[in-house]
Amino acid sequence: MRAALAISLLSAVVLGLASPTGLSNLKVKESVSSPRGWIQGTRAPADHSIELKIALPQPNFNVLEKHLYEVSDPSHSRYGQHLSKEAVEELVAPHATSIQLVNAWLSSHGFEEGDFSRSPAKDWITLRVPAVLAEKMLDTTFHVWTHEESGDAVIRTLSYSLPESLHEHIDLIQPTTMFARMKKQKTTFRWSEKQATSAAAPGSKIQLSNGISVDASCNETVTITCLKELYNAVGFEPSAKNGNQIGITGYLEQFANLEDLKLFFADQNPAAVNSSFKFVSINGGQNSQNVSEAGAEADLDTQFAFGLTFPTPATFFSTAGMPPFIPDIGTPTDSNEPYTTWLDFVLAQSVVPQTISTSYGDDEQTVPVNFAQRVCNGFAQLGARGTTLMFSSGDGGVGDGDPDPATQQCFTNDGRNATQFLAGFPASCPFVTAVGGTIHVPEVAVSFSGGGFSKTFSRPAYQNAAVEDFLQNKLPKGRYAGLFNPNGRAFPDVSAQADNFRIFFQGSPGLIGGTSASSPTFAGFVSLLNSARLSAGKPPLGFLNPLLYSTGELGFNDITIGNNPGCGTPGFNATEGWDPVTGLGTPNFAKLRGIVLSV
Ligand SMILES: *[C@@H]1O[C@H](CO)[C@@H](O)[C@H](O)[C@H]1NC(C)=O
Ligand SMILES: *[C@@H]1O[C@H](CO)[C@@H](O)[C@H](O)[C@H]1NC(C)=O
Ligand SMILES: *[C@@H]1O[C@H](CO)[C@@H](O)[C@H](O)[C@H]1NC(C)=O
Ligand SMILES: *[C@@H]1O[C@H](CO)[C@@H](O)[C@H](O)[C@H]1NC(C)=O
Ligand SMILES: *[C@@H]1O[C@H](CO)[C@@H](O)[C@H](O)[C@H]1NC(C)=O
Repeated sequence: MRAALAISLLSAVVLGLASPTGLSNLKVKESVSSPRGWIQGTRAPADHSIELKIALPQPNFNVLEKHLYEVSDPSHSRYGQHLSKEAVEELVAPHATSIQLVNAWLSSHGFEEGDFSRSPAKDWITLRVPAVLAEKMLDTTFHVWTHEESGDAVIRTLSYSLPESLHEHIDLIQPTTMFARMKKQKTTFRWSEKQATSAAAPGSKIQLSNGISVDASCNETVTITCLKELYNAVGFEPSAKNGNQIGITGYLEQFANLEDLKLFFADQNPAAVNSSFKFVSINGGQNSQNVSEAGAEADLDTQFAFGLTFPTPATFFSTAGMPPFIPDIGTPTDSNEPYTTWLDFVLAQSVVPQTISTSYGDDEQTVPVNFAQRVCNGFAQLGARGTTLMFSSGDGGVGDGDPDPATQQCFTNDGRNATQFLAGFPASCPFVTAVGGTIHVPEVAVSFSGGGFSKTFSRPAYQNAAVEDFLQNKLPKGRYAGLFNPNGRAFPDVSAQADNFRIFFQGSPGLIGGTSASSPTFAGFVSLLNSARLSAGKPPLGFLNPLLYSTGELGFNDITIGNNPGCGTPGFNATEGWDPVTGLGTPNFAKLRGIVLSV
């Protein structure tokens, strides 16, 4: 330890930083205006423990991005040649100078290697410090901030500073100025055995225009069998032994209950009744199996994703962190934006499931741009390694789903109170596949399907043709001008059924809906595609969007009816081709399987 300290002091001296002046010239690194809907309260208790995440720049991220697009483009000779964990880590590693200068700064505050942890690529440092010390390091004052509507409390500040010489060596430090509130994407809970049974005559079928016939009951109650019929996957058997895996993430203390899963399987997929999943706890994520503590979100996600893909080995990742927390007892769960915690863990694993679904999100405008970019870069790293990431597109149409008429106008939270459509994050990250929602058979767009255009991320090239066609030819000229960013990453990419899902929750069957349901559903079919590819000796699909918007387009059922109201407007229309309500449409598995086996 002494030797390591000597080396770090030496490099600091060489770089001229050991002198107080090198580190004393503090300059504001980031500042935000007072966020809408939050009230500043008392000063943070001095001994309140804060887990700071320090992001060091990734100077070669553009090189990683180039590799990502090459290995994900079905027309490129490198398609499917995913990068190893080590290769990805090398491409996101910070510059040695950044590591040295940040070490020198941390050691000037008394920290040595061992007092903090680093991600494998050394691009993130995690450091737990009392508020009083964080205030000194960042030349700021932390307060307790309370979210008016929910009463959730967080410890935050409106601005923080760093020595000027460090500004180019640290991208960001959070949680400081971040006022994001992670939400489960779900709209509807209905618990009635009566509603869960069908009014349709038993055995009657609905004939669809694509030649598929679906049980008439599926119009009111969605089951595993309905989805396999509707999306043309009847009879496909995934392998349990070809290396394919599927993962579901859980946050906000959502517990996936094994008793509920067993009841669900007995009801909808009896062959799976004795199967289970691997539980992975991240950062102390809990696994209560008390059935009255089961989470509806976690039950929905695991039952449908694992039910569709049985016997594919399945994993449930439970990441700790949930508001509200009590700010004066040093609770470690003051992280409303735990994607970095999940990414830290998953990126450090040598084997990651090839398909992962997440049904949680934030309003994009509440996530600082530099933070959103770094999280999105983390998703790109997983894509480059061969994992496909699905996210729910959101349940508020073009808005945030706030039912309060006073706030329905979708205000910006930048102090201007301007009206604008609100995108969701991570759905707006160009390196994930965002999943919108449909309802009924034949399918139409579900009204809450989150969709629109990012303000944070610009439009990726892979969706240029599809989105331009919508903007030029489908959206009436000038409609909603100023309410959305036409040059932003547009979402969703695809969609799937999103309402009337029959699940078992706390021991009883009931119906549930939301893009919470459509993301694990779409992920289920992607996992089946991965199974087909792995069994054929091909690599997994990885980052999916470049394929979806090119050769994949023919594997979708175009949804052309419905719209996604929000912000006091009727929202966008589902149209022929891609649209910001249902994306490219819903999957036709048999067609997609042919497509992904031919590339
Ligand atoms: C499906 O349900 C919707 C809503 O209840 C109804 O309008 C539609 O006619 C039904 N479709 C069929 C084929 O029964
Ligand atoms: C599940 O386990 C029970 C008890 O061991 C056994 O009787 C039953 O046949 C199993 N069912 C399946 C589908 O494997
Ligand atoms: C299960 O959870 C409920 C609700 O939190 C609680 O009231 C009950 O005591 C718990 N049961 C057991 C056996 O721990
Ligand atoms: C924005 O709205 C908030 C809450 O309604 C209000 O307190 C504030 O004064 C408004 N700001 C502007 C610039 O209109
Ligand atoms: C949606 O379609 C309706 C009916 O065709 C049309 O009147 C309306 O202008 C369209 N709205 C948008 C935003 O495209």
